Amino acid sequence: MLSSSANDYIQREGPLARTGLLANIGPKGSQASGAKPGIVVASPSTSNPDYLYSWTRDSALVFKTIVDHYISSSHKNVSLRVLIDDYAHAQTQLQEVDNPSGNITTGGLGEPKFNIDLTAFEGSWGRPQRDGPALRAITLITYVNWLLDNSNTSHANTLWPTIQLDLDYVANDWNKTGFDLWEEVSSSSFWTTASQHRALRQGAALAKSLGKEDLIEKYNIQADNALCFLQSYWNHEASYVTSNTGGGRSGIDANSVLTSIHTFDPSAGCDAITFQPCSDKALSNLKVYVDSFRSIYAINQGFTENEAVATGRYPEDVYMGGNPWYLATFAVAEQLYESLSVWDAQGSLQITSISLPFFQQFSSDVQTGDYKSNTETYDKLTSEIRAFADGFIAINGRYTPDNGSLAEQYRKDDGKPTSARDLTWSYASAITAFLAHDGIVASPWGAQGLQIQTDSDGHCIANPGPMSEIVFKVEKDTVYGENVFITGSIGQLGNWDPAHAVKLDPKSYPYWSVEIEVPASISFSYKYIIQNQNSGSVAWENDPNHDLQSSSEGKSMVVTDTWHN
Ligand code: NOJ
Ligand code: NOJ
Repeated sequence: MLSSSANDYIQREGPLARTGLLANIGPKGSQASGAKPGIVVASPSTSNPDYLYSWTRDSALVFKTIVDHYISSSHKNVSLRVLIDDYAHAQTQLQEVDNPSGNITTGGLGEPKFNIDLTAFEGSWGRPQRDGPALRAITLITYVNWLLDNSNTSHANTLWPTIQLDLDYVANDWNKTGFDLWEEVSSSSFWTTASQHRALRQGAALAKSLGKEDLIEKYNIQADNALCFLQSYWNHEASYVTSNTGGGRSGIDANSVLTSIHTFDPSAGCDAITFQPCSDKALSNLKVYVDSFRSIYAINQGFTENEAVATGRYPEDVYMGGNPWYLATFAVAEQLYESLSVWDAQGSLQITSISLPFFQQFSSDVQTGDYKSNTETYDKLTSEIRAFADGFIAINGRYTPDNGSLAEQYRKDDGKPTSARDLTWSYASAITAFLAHDGIVASPWGAQGLQIQTDSDGHCIANPGPMSEIVFKVEKDTVYGENVFITGSIGQLGNWDPAHAVKLDPKSYPYWSVEIEVPASISFSYKYIIQNQNSGSVAWENDPNHDLQSSSEGKSMVVTDTWHN
């Protein structure tokens, strides 16, 4: 019954979601008046909440849907192509807009949202948000790869500088603190790290296609580092992803489910390293996530534990009352459909001790093991899981008004749509969930076969690749108890974390120096800092950062810097 109501809803809602999405994009969208060409309005709602802005994240996700649709359709819709070019052009312009996060070279790319006429939003906000440049790069790279496949090298080359700016920002700054996708917690965030990892991988591959030799390594090295760091979010005891390193919450969050679907690579099988939808970790996480909403929303009462329920951003959420979100509930369905597609393609599914509780929802006596697609267990599990997935679609369907409009949320006590109306991202999330329902999978992005190196304790160690040596020297007068350290944008310099900065030696005082092995042929930034060993205080050298390109493999160099007072 749920499955037929899911199908009916998909038939009805699919075209309405596409119309609703396009209506929110300038210049012609009926709900986007005043928006410049290619600018996505998050929602036309102007009060409570006011969403008449353009978020880099929402826009990139919405345009990823459009680009994927455009490149996969056999009849190319010219107006979509125009819109995609408008988007690319608008983003190039936005990169140049000075804003409260900085300018194009000092961090402005991390600004989360802009006015829809391409001017800066000057109000206070949770900034920076470091997923934006990564997501935008992913969308543009996907488009550029298609251009290259269709011999449009010149157009691809005109988009490259925009992409490179985002990739360099990600490569240099991925490990710095920023706000999570919900704009509330300033720390590291699973979604952000995973998006950054994907952008860097795809960026390295594109750099290769375009012959940008010096960048391939730089992006791959940081991709390795980010992938390494990504592993650290896993909570071994409770078997789910702690989505933020800060925030003081459980960490159970749609953040992780969205990560799974937006970094889905059908050729990566059920790899847990990249948290593929059917990986044991992602499935265990999904169960913990879904279950966390069973008791807190009144509309979820009366369902058994293997039935779908409405889900929200995270259980502790209080924004607009703390309600279910359409895009969160669709994401659950999407992860399940994508899992089913991969199991089908590989002709089997695997149950590990980590994913066992997830599968036991559908068959309480099922055991760990490999189940081929011709077994009864496989049949039973996959048909139950499909019904479960359909259930999440049907729940959203139940709370969608007849005209098909999708707000941001629906109320946890009576299911009435609430918060921002016609949220563009809600429409995009319906579209991608419906495609997944139909077994249409996204194209690979390079997650296949990725590995991480571990040390003897099983901790991930990044593979830094070819190295070169740098002697850093700086003249600095200090007082007793003060020491000069260097920190910067690469792991060898502690990724801007004073606690992991490298100490310089005052053996030729007032000259301080240190020799450090760094990845060869990469560009990076750094600063000197003074740490007082008595008080523990840290004083940073003034802006701007020092920028440097390391020498090629095996070579060494000496850099004598002047302290920035
Ligand atoms: C507005 C943000 O858009 C939203 O994500 C957040 O939950 C609320 N502010 C409350 O901080
Ligand atoms: C609030 C959400 O938390 C955030 O993720 C989103 O970017 C904005 N609203 C705009 O839709």
